Amino acid sequence: MKEELNILIQAQYPLIYLLTSEEERSEQAIATIAQFKPQRRVFIWTVTHGIIEHGQPRSLTQHNTVSPEAAIEWVVRQRDPGIYIFKDLHPFIDSPATTRWLRDAIASFKGTQKNIILMSPVQQVPIELEKEVVVVDYPLPDMTELDEVLSFQLEQIRARRTTTDAREKLLKAALGLTRDEAQKVYRKALVTAGRLTESEVEIVLSEKKQLIRRNGILEYIEVDETIDSIGGLEELKRWLQQRSNAFTERAREYGLPQPKGMLILGVPGCGKSLIAKTTSRLWGLPLIRLDMGRVYDGSMVGRSEQNLRNALKTAESISPAILFIDEMDKAFAGSTGSSDSDGGTSSRIFGSFLTWMQEKTSPVFVMATANRVERLPGEFLRKGRFDEIFFVDLPNAEERQEIFKIHLLKRRTDIERFDIEQLANVCDGFSGAEIEQGIVAAMYEAFAQDREFTQLDIIAACRATLPLSKTMTEQVTALRDWARQRARPAASSVAEYQRLEF
Ligand SMILES: Nc1ncnc2c1ncn2[C@@H]1O[C@H](COP(=O)(O)OP(=O)(O)OP(=O)(O)O)[C@@H](O)[C@H]1O
Ligand SMILES: [Mg+2]
Repeated sequence: MKEELNILIQAQYPLIYLLTSEEERSEQAIATIAQFKPQRRVFIWTVTHGIIEHGQPRSLTQHNTVSPEAAIEWVVRQRDPGIYIFKDLHPFIDSPATTRWLRDAIASFKGTQKNIILMSPVQQVPIELEKEVVVVDYPLPDMTELDEVLSFQLEQIRARRTTTDAREKLLKAALGLTRDEAQKVYRKALVTAGRLTESEVEIVLSEKKQLIRRNGILEYIEVDETIDSIGGLEELKRWLQQRSNAFTERAREYGLPQPKGMLILGVPGCGKSLIAKTTSRLWGLPLIRLDMGRVYDGSMVGRSEQNLRNALKTAESISPAILFIDEMDKAFAGSTGSSDSDGGTSSRIFGSFLTWMQEKTSPVFVMATANRVERLPGEFLRKGRFDEIFFVDLPNAEERQEIFKIHLLKRRTDIERFDIEQLANVCDGFSGAEIEQGIVAAMYEAFAQDREFTQLDIIAACRATLPLSKTMTEQVTALRDWARQRARPAASSVAEYQRLEF
């Protein structure tokens, strides 16, 4: 990353927009680059102090440079090679005068060794400048940089050398954090345990989870259930099982591409979310949920995009990982027809997301689920975007038996007393969730009468239920018709799946 920034500076890019929330860290990186030949002086502008040279005390501020225009004018007057960092200029950048001053400054930089770097956590570039500015997203620290942080902490306590193994685990555990956050987390582990060894990895991880939760958009999900707690969906399970080692070094050496992601479409309550979650255990990768609803933030132009970018950046730095986007159709509802309703924000967000999916090289597997295809923009469903689009249908009789078994076994050990075949037949047209509810309802009934629940209780409960496939026949049929042509059935085989009709 320093490399990219270095190249841009050396190559005389006059205006660089550096997106980052880590001012100190990026300032340090720029100061290091400035040491390379030709050496440059580094100046920093803030609206509170005006221009001060990097490393100089605040009292040495350049006279009369607090206003953005005066500051840019001052920069234009300088003769020596220099890097001029403007921190948080974005609230002023929309003013016609500031924009004009910036354009004039850039024009005057030709043949000089001067660059302006706009450093800000939000991307806000006026149209007039779009052609002249290059936007750089400063990434979170990688293992090498975290190693510096860790080494520093270890020196503090004069720790004996850690094993390479422990070190690597401690570093991996902090991926996804900013430099400051990593430092805090290591320090906290040190204070809590009095040392930093392999046993402290857990502390680092749980601290990281809290920090990530605090940003409100990403969430770590802990999964207890395994893929065996899902009935049916054999084809989908097989697909997933086949890829359990897809993110290993061995798979790369073999020449396999990294899986990009999958979309699971289907009837509500048939296990879409459940299977997405259990994949995390199957593959041994962390599961991070991206809450699209929380990405939207109308408080400021560009804020939603920034939220999305930050979240994706964090996900990438934790990778290999599974990025779980549940009920994607709800998030992108605005980007198909009614995009005017939110000023086009959802289509912009959607566009950024697609671009990211297209260009990402880090091993982040996107697992998205949706119920309503008509709400998803067409670009999304195009072949090649996801590795596969699966359709999860209502379970057939055999699958319903499996689901009954799974849910009865979760609650009782003596399930021989149930005639599962009969139960499955009674529940024709039921989803997995509805079957589970049937069992729970039967248990409540019996519990209220202070007795054990029986076959008859379940039958009664199911008869009293009107399944979604009956109340929403039209939607379910439409979804099936759509999926029949464009998605791969998650159940055992195409023949099997086509036999399924109400
Ligand atoms: N095939 C299945 N096997 C076992 N349990 C199932 C199955 N399908 C659904 N269930 C039960 O129903 C619950 C709800 O399912 P889940 O949330 O995965 O459905 P969904 O397809 O994501 O529905 P929605 O579209 O409403 O989000 C699960 O937690 C599980 O207990
Ligand atoms: Mg769901």
